[in-house]
Amino acid sequence: MPKPLATAQPNGLDFFAAPIRAALAASLDVDESLLQLERPRQEALGQFALPCFRFAKAAGKNPAELAANWAEAFSVEHITATAAGPFLNFSIDEDRLAAVVLESALREDFATGNEDCTTVVEFSSPNIAKPMHVGHMRTTVIGAALARFYTRLGHHVIKINHIGDWGSQFGKLVAAWQRWGSNEELEKAPIAHLLALYVRYHEAEKQDESLPAEAKKAFQELESGDDNQTRATWKKFTELSLREFEQVYARFGIEFDFVRGESWYEDKLTDILTWLDSSGVLKEDAGAQIIDLTAEGIKTPCLVKTAHGTTLYATRDIAAAKSRWEEFKFDQMLYVVGAEQTLHFQQFKAALKLCGAEWQEKMEHIPFGLIRMAEGKLSTRAGRVISLSEVLDRAVELAREAVDKKNPELATKAEVAEMVGVGAVVFHDLKHQRQKDVVFDWKEVLSFEGDTGPYLQYTHARCCSILRKAERSEPVLEEIDPKLLRGGKDLFVAVGRLPQALREAAQKREPNTVAQALLKIAAAGNSYYRENRVLGLDDDALTDARLAVIDMLRRTMKLGMDLLGVPAPEEM
Ligand code: ARG
Repeated sequence: MPKPLATAQPNGLDFFAAPIRAALAASLDVDESLLQLERPRQEALGQFALPCFRFAKAAGKNPAELAANWAEAFSVEHITATAAGPFLNFSIDEDRLAAVVLESALREDFATGNEDCTTVVEFSSPNIAKPMHVGHMRTTVIGAALARFYTRLGHHVIKINHIGDWGSQFGKLVAAWQRWGSNEELEKAPIAHLLALYVRYHEAEKQDESLPAEAKKAFQELESGDDNQTRATWKKFTELSLREFEQVYARFGIEFDFVRGESWYEDKLTDILTWLDSSGVLKEDAGAQIIDLTAEGIKTPCLVKTAHGTTLYATRDIAAAKSRWEEFKFDQMLYVVGAEQTLHFQQFKAALKLCGAEWQEKMEHIPFGLIRMAEGKLSTRAGRVISLSEVLDRAVELAREAVDKKNPELATKAEVAEMVGVGAVVFHDLKHQRQKDVVFDWKEVLSFEGDTGPYLQYTHARCCSILRKAERSEPVLEEIDPKLLRGGKDLFVAVGRLPQALREAAQKREPNTVAQALLKIAAAGNSYYRENRVLGLDDDALTDARLAVIDMLRRTMKLGMDLLGVPAPEEM
């Protein structure tokens, strides 16, 4: 389990949690660590809640009675405690809440942490010679968001892209290339050509018996490690594939610390097999080497070496994990990979455990659900491949139509359409609970209303526009009378909850928590500027106060969108 994450300096609503807990602990003589404040079931009940069941039980009292007694005894300036059944709820005075949240949300360290932790996040990890598909979108977008959360909370984050570039399928690909490859096609559209070769191989294999032998020979050459023609060809495929993947990453604004294919661990495999053997876990099974995992409650053994002597996906994962442990000594290593690979992760983790590698406890598979296109299933086998870049292109095209309609005068239409299209796709992915399947419906993804990326972007752009039009210098915070901030309570509460949301998202590995918090902020922000005029007032003090609120909203939206990887255009 990762250590609890602490903020550097309590800000937002966190600011009030410490005094509440300290006061309770002092007057009630209970240990502060037991006082876990929660979020009340309804916003109207207050900003914090304390369930009293466990304390009532310990005291042999009725929880409601205990809550009522505690409410009466509670005395902290600006905070009111009220009992509601077995819960003790705490409400912060509106003016005080507004002043604290405004001040902290305008600081650079808003929603940050100082956790001393090394976190490896492995994500994206597409396979070369195949297009990245929408399943890779989820790992890419979720993994990048998690990495940003941990970075913000102060972790030393190491982002790894574990490219699938090794295995017998590459022997087949090289064999197909030798027969039908075209340099010209390869230059034009590398991945498309390689995919076509791969498909052709599988069709031809049925009629042509010499083909599998060619593939086998090619893979042997690859594995031999010599600098032969086969290896050079494979290297070229890898480079060209990576170049195409890079374009997608650039559109998402994602960079990795290490792009290491499975092949990178190849020269470590002999040592790994020796290590497994000396740990006494290897068993022979019809010429193959397996690790029996029944002691760990897993029926399917982990296959690490075939009867032909080749290593497998799991062998390379064992090698990668061990090599990363030795290199980074991580506190946690997260693998953001689809739920369909759950067994694989259970297997190689269990194998490591049997070898006495205690650090395997720090490894965690972060699974996610499938994406389904609203108009039908996506299936590679049915020949209907929807690549990730096609999805992005289509989103940008639709965004362009919307921008053309909404803001025909905009000078930066192309850039904005790119930001809106990509942002829409990213946010749609992250607003769902990670483990749930996602239905992808173009109309919904790109709508400017409702729980969408464009809606968040619009809220942010609207703030930028108000601030531009105001043409006033930045207000001095200390001079703002909190009374002038009235009318924004929902917004201050929503903004004030962002630090908590970030911590919770990091703990649960759930970007959705930040996405939902941001939607709440946007909704409250929209009501705020609908109900509280900002421009054209003849009261300078009030204008300054409201501009500060809009600036807080703009910054918080930007911060939240940055964390999720949703671009934030200033105009749209
Ligand atoms: N390349 C694999 C795929 O596209 C994902 C790799 C996941 N990571 C791992 N360490 N096995 O399905």
